[in-house]
Amino acid sequence: MCGIMGYVGPAEAAPILIDGLQRLEYRGYDSAGIAVHDGSVVTIRKAEGKLERLVALLAESPPSGSTGIGHTRWATHGPPTDFNAHPHTDPAGDIAVVHNGIIENFLALREELGEKGSRFTSDTDTEILAHLIADEYEEDLLEAVRRAVRRAEGAYALVAMSRKEPGRIVAVRMISPLIIGLGEGETFLASDIPAILHRTRRILVIENGEIVDITADGVRIETLAGAPVARETLEISWNAEQAEKGGYPHFMIKEIFEQPDVITETLSGRIRGSSDVALEGVGFPEGFVAGLDKIWITACGTAYHAGLVGKEIFERKLRIPVDVVYAHELRYRDPIIRPNSLTIAISQSGETADTLAAAELAKGRGSRLLAITNVVGSTLSRISDDVLYTRAGPEIAVASTKAYLAMLIGEYLLTVRMGRDLGRYTDAESAEMIDGLRHLPQAAEEVLGRSEDIARLAEGFAGADDVYFLGRGVDYAVAMEGSLKMKEISYIHSEAMPAGELKHGTLALVTRGTPVVTVLTQRYVYDKTVSAIMEVKARGAHTIAVAYDDDGNAAKHADEVVRIPRVPDSLSPVLSAIPLQLLAYYVAVARGHDIDQPRNLAKSVTVE
Ligand code: F6R
Repeated sequence: MCGIMGYVGPAEAAPILIDGLQRLEYRGYDSAGIAVHDGSVVTIRKAEGKLERLVALLAESPPSGSTGIGHTRWATHGPPTDFNAHPHTDPAGDIAVVHNGIIENFLALREELGEKGSRFTSDTDTEILAHLIADEYEEDLLEAVRRAVRRAEGAYALVAMSRKEPGRIVAVRMISPLIIGLGEGETFLASDIPAILHRTRRILVIENGEIVDITADGVRIETLAGAPVARETLEISWNAEQAEKGGYPHFMIKEIFEQPDVITETLSGRIRGSSDVALEGVGFPEGFVAGLDKIWITACGTAYHAGLVGKEIFERKLRIPVDVVYAHELRYRDPIIRPNSLTIAISQSGETADTLAAAELAKGRGSRLLAITNVVGSTLSRISDDVLYTRAGPEIAVASTKAYLAMLIGEYLLTVRMGRDLGRYTDAESAEMIDGLRHLPQAAEEVLGRSEDIARLAEGFAGADDVYFLGRGVDYAVAMEGSLKMKEISYIHSEAMPAGELKHGTLALVTRGTPVVTVLTQRYVYDKTVSAIMEVKARGAHTIAVAYDDDGNAAKHADEVVRIPRVPDSLSPVLSAIPLQLLAYYVAVARGHDIDQPRNLAKSVTVE
C-alpha cells in the first residue's frame, strides 16, 4: 500500500519523483526516499516523516541524474525511521530497490543471505530483495530481477535499478499494482495513476506475474517465464480527483472494493503450512496462553464491533471468558483486571485517546497488552507488549470499512495461534479454518460482484426515518456494525439489537414499511432469528435478510434476501459485513450526502 514512482528520460529525475510522490501523499505516509542515477553514481536520499522532510533534505543537497525511483512508505516490517525508508540497496550500493507489499519468506531469506555473509542495515523485507538481486546479478538487471523474484514469495510490487545500467529500470508486479506512463522520449512508472496523470494520459497497466524493462524509449513487458506480452495502451480520461479515487466516485467505495486484497495482505506470510499460524510481533511467553483466565477487549466504534466478533470466536474456540468494553467506559471503571489476563486493544489509527487510556489502565494492572492496529509505529503499537498489524493500508474515508474487515482477519489468526497453544485445535480443525480464511478473498469478490443488487435495494431505504438491524451471536455483532455505517453516512436513525431483544420493547417502534435488516447466518440460532423476522413482518416491516447462497429458507420469510457465499459459520462476519457497508453507502449516495467526510465526524478521535 506504499506509493511508488519511477522516471527514465532526459530531465532531472528528482523533481519529477518528488512531484509524483506528493500527488500520492493524500493517503498519508510515514517516510519517503528517492534514488537517482547520474550515469555513474546512484545517490540515495531518504527521511522519516512527511514528504516535506525529504524535500528539505533535497534542497540542501540536490542529487542529479535522469533515471530514478522513489517511494513513500506505509510501514509494515519495522517502524518508520530513516533507515527503514526506501530505497534500499545491496551492501555494495549497486542495486537500489523500492517495494510495495510483503515478502512472506523474508525471515528464511534473511537467514539464508546472512549465512552467505550479508549484513542488513534495516528491519525491512525490502532490503532482502536488493541483496537477492545483487546475488543473482550477472550484468543484466532484467534477468537478475527475474531470478530473484523466483526466490521471493508474497504479494508485492518491486522496482529496481542498477548502478551498472544507467537509463534502465526493471519492475515486477506480484499482485500489488503498478502502471507505466508513456511520454515523448521519457517513461514513467507508478503504483497509482494520480502520480503521473498530469504528465501523460497514455497508461499501460502491468498485470500479475509480469516483469517490465523500462527505458526512455518505452517498455518491454514479459511474463516471469519469459514470454513477451503485448499490452494495449489506455487513454485515461479521469481528472486528478477521480484518479485519486481509482476511478471510484468516493474513497469509501474504493476502500470497500479493496477488501479482497486487504484480506490477502493481512493473511500474507502468517500461515504456516496447511494448519498453523505464525504472528510476527506476537511473542507470548511460554505457558502464557495456558495460564490465562480472562481476555479483555477494548476499543471504540467500528473497532469495538470487531471486538464483539472477537469475543464470540475467542470464547467459542478458546473457552476463555472474554469481556468487550468500550474504551471510554473501561478507563473510568475500576475494572477487575488481573495479571493473568490478556487485554486486546483494537484501533485502526492506534491513536484514539480513549483506547490508549484504557490500554494503559489494563497494562498498569498487570495485564499483557496486545494491539490490533493498522498503523505501524502508532502510539498504541508502542505501548503494547504484542502487536498484530492489520495491513489494510491507508484508510481515507471517515467511515471505516476495510480496516474493520482486516481486524476480523487478525482476530481469526489470533484464535488459531492461541487455540493451537491451548491444544484446542487439532491439525484437521485448524487446516479447515485456514482453508476457510484462504477462500475469503475470492468469496468477498463474489459479494462485491453483486453490488448492483444492493444499490437497487438501497433505493427503498432512501426515504426511511428509522432502520433496524438484527442478528444473534456474531450476526448481532455484524448488525451493530451495519447499523453504525448506516447512521454515520446516511444520517438515518438506525439501531441494532440481538434478534431476541426486539420483543422486549423496541418492537413498539416498528410500523408499516420500516426497513428491518436481519443477518441470518448462524445455524445454531437460525430458527430463533427467523422468528424475529416473522414478528416484524407481522407489524408491516419491510424485511431484508443477509443469508448464504444455499439457504433456500430465507426467501420464504424475508421480503428480500441478500446473498453471500457459503463459508463456515464462524467466518461469516467477513462476508455479511460487506453488503451492509454497501447498503449504507448506496443509501447515503441516494440521499446526496458527503460520503467520505460525514458531518460532525473525524477520522481519528485523539481527544476525549
Ligand atoms: C466508524 C469509525 C469509528 C472508529 C472509532 C475508533 O466508521 O471509523 O467508529 O472505528 O473512532 O477509531 P480507531 O479504530 O482508529 O481507534
